[in-house]
Amino acid sequence: MDKKVAGLLNEQINKELYSAYLYLDMANFYDSKGLDGFANWYEIQAREEQDHAMLIYKFLHNNGETVTLEAVAKPDKVFQALGDPLAAAHEHEQYVTSLINTIYAAAQAVNDFRTLQFLDWFVKEQGEEEKNSADLITKMELFGSDAKGLYMLNSELGGRVYSAPSLQL
Ligand code: FEO
Repeated sequence: MDKKVAGLLNEQINKELYSAYLYLDMANFYDSKGLDGFANWYEIQAREEQDHAMLIYKFLHNNGETVTLEAVAKPDKVFQALGDPLAAAHEHEQYVTSLINTIYAAAQAVNDFRTLQFLDWFVKEQGEEEKNSADLITKMELFGSDAKGLYMLNSELGGRVYSAPSLQL
């Protein structure tokens, strides 16, 4: 595999694990506020990020690459208002999309069609992630300022169930 592409994929493992850590911290925040449904949403989000990391880890191994695991940074976002994690999550997903696009462009530059095919799943996934995070902000703006609305939204998010990624390696 091209060194630059392999290096970017290796870095992405760390970014996905950081994402998991960041979302766990958001779950942590909501748990401390008594919003168990919001906490559930972000606990599942954290699990999905670990899945993303493992998919890339396995892809690199399947292609004969050595994986180097680096330290995962401490989540450093400060949350005060109930909507703060929602805004931070959306911004973070936009950033992750830019990272995936960078790897995609690097793979495209060296005609690495196998990596491009692998990354197609991530490109689609990022579209879903950004839509979900944007929808949550909209719902919070519409219903979150009213106690009953917030209760209903918390119940809805509490119903989210984890499912393994559709991409299997
Ligand atoms: Fe792994 Fe939420 O992107």
